[in-house]
Amino acid sequence: MSNLAVSIIGAGFVGLTTAVVFAHKGIKTICVEIDKDRLNILKGRKAPFYEPDLDSMLKDCIDNNTISFTDDIDYAINNSNITFICVGTPQRDDGSIDLKYVRSAAISIGKALIDKSGYHLIVIKSTVTPGTNHMVKKVIEEYSNKRFGKDFGIISNPEFLREGSAIYDTLNPNFLLIGADNDRDAEILEELYTLLYKPNIPKIIKVNTYTAELVKYAINSFLATKISFINTIANICQRLPSVDVNTVASIIGLDPRIGPLFLKAGPGYGGSCLPKDVNALINFSKALGYDPILFKTVQEVNRLQKDAVLGLVNKLIENIEGKTIAVLGLAFKKDSDDIRESVSIKIIKDLLDKGCRVKVHDPMAIENAKKVFKDSIIYCKDKYECISDSDCCIILTEWDEYKELEPEHFKSMKSPIVIDARRVLDHEKFIDKVRFAAVGLGYKELLDYKIPSVSVNAIIEDKGKVLLVKRRKEPFKGYWSLPGGYVEYGESVEEALRREVKEEVGIDIEIDRLLNVYSDPFRHIAKHTIAIVYKASIVNGKISNNEEISDAKFFSKEEIPEILAFDHKKMIEDYLKV
Ligand code: UGA
Repeated sequence: MSNLAVSIIGAGFVGLTTAVVFAHKGIKTICVEIDKDRLNILKGRKAPFYEPDLDSMLKDCIDNNTISFTDDIDYAINNSNITFICVGTPQRDDGSIDLKYVRSAAISIGKALIDKSGYHLIVIKSTVTPGTNHMVKKVIEEYSNKRFGKDFGIISNPEFLREGSAIYDTLNPNFLLIGADNDRDAEILEELYTLLYKPNIPKIIKVNTYTAELVKYAINSFLATKISFINTIANICQRLPSVDVNTVASIIGLDPRIGPLFLKAGPGYGGSCLPKDVNALINFSKALGYDPILFKTVQEVNRLQKDAVLGLVNKLIENIEGKTIAVLGLAFKKDSDDIRESVSIKIIKDLLDKGCRVKVHDPMAIENAKKVFKDSIIYCKDKYECISDSDCCIILTEWDEYKELEPEHFKSMKSPIVIDARRVLDHEKFIDKVRFAAVGLGYKELLDYKIPSVSVNAIIEDKGKVLLVKRRKEPFKGYWSLPGGYVEYGESVEEALRREVKEEVGIDIEIDRLLNVYSDPFRHIAKHTIAIVYKASIVNGKISNNEEISDAKFFSKEEIPEILAFDHKKMIEDYLKV
């Protein structure tokens, strides 16, 4: 069977990686690429994109004469017995899949088969919606005048490799999926894979073509769902005291029903596959008459996750207009120069819209980013130059070199503010040294709320009068006081204030601003206790100057009772002076 020769149509991530892996194992491989620029790069012994190990393996294969590149599809078909279709399947404006490159590959194969003798197997590796195999079959029959099952066969054999580890994934697949309408075709491909992987042949699963085509979408949509799920949990964690999504993920991942992978919270998924494939499945499903609301939500969560990252920026910088933002990472994931659907690119666009000056660094993707942003952003040669003199630094790709950053490296910033959207930094080291926020990391300041050490008071005004409440509990029972109370575990000060006023007075308030912070260590038991005074107004208020509800009442300056439950006189006087 060593006379098996393979041709591969399309030298993209899947096509070129597959070709190089076949050729590296000594299988004669002809790679067809119709893009002239790309073909020239390949003939010049280089891969047209970055992928670990690809360049060196490619050079070896060229030296060993096991791989060749051409734009002549007739030559490729006539000099091989198995052809893999690995062309792109982009999305149309409405999100549905565009199969035009698959169709034109099928037409070319059909025409090339006219004069070919002997059985030829066509293998569809491109990601295609269920039913495409049958479409390709019809097109080839039409253009070749040959018969499926007699002169040629077609298999659906989706690929599950990831960018950044494409070679590794191709050499070590979890399983191989063969979707075939007859046993003969499945056996030929099985033979090729046996040759490729022996002695460690992966599990081979044989199904019909529709199943194989759907499995590819099911896997990518499930992975996208897992990411949107963990990002949702991350957004909840951020609102809790000292809860870290990484800890949550590492625990839930121990449950074999869940598993540990694809639970890394971040800025949202990007790349050329997950966003496109979820979209294609939604459209495909709708066309079948079923609206897959789960995937629509997965997509929406992912769309909004970049705003969650920008929310962290806004939390630490009051007004970002005119500020210099350092963005570390442009690629949609590490070990790749691919910026397609990269969240980093979307965030940079938002920052530019908001009037920021943006400096960027990426070890591999700068050239691709230049095609998008031209001279509207500043490209830095290393991470230190990027960080230097900026107001805020956002880490958006998990490159290993960013993991080496220490708090000292951010000293060159105007006033260090670091947002770790990829969780590459050890937050324990950073939290006290720089202003720091990270996706899925609970809010540090809330730690102080473990003991009810922050007391809050509201000055609610109505026509120059302030609202006081009569205390119900000892030791201040019967005395007037400003409404307020203590912050409970996990609450923000504002939430506590709203809750307390609602409980005490039965009205909803809107907090306008912080007036002052008073601290009286003699009166309060806990060392760090402070009184925070807010100016608040009533929302749809039931209470006015003329009314009393329960034990709350408005007082003018002169009317304020001589004895108050707490010594708020200074606060009230300060307020009424304003
Ligand atoms: C994805 C699938 O993982 C592959 O199995 C599939 O073969 C490929 O699509 C394809 O259809 O060709 P890929 O897009 O290369 O591979 O990259 P992934 O590793 O899946 O990452 C996709 C995005 O999700 C990246 O932006 C990554 O940063 C993000 N991600 C991934 C997370 O945010 N969290 C995670 O835990 C994992």
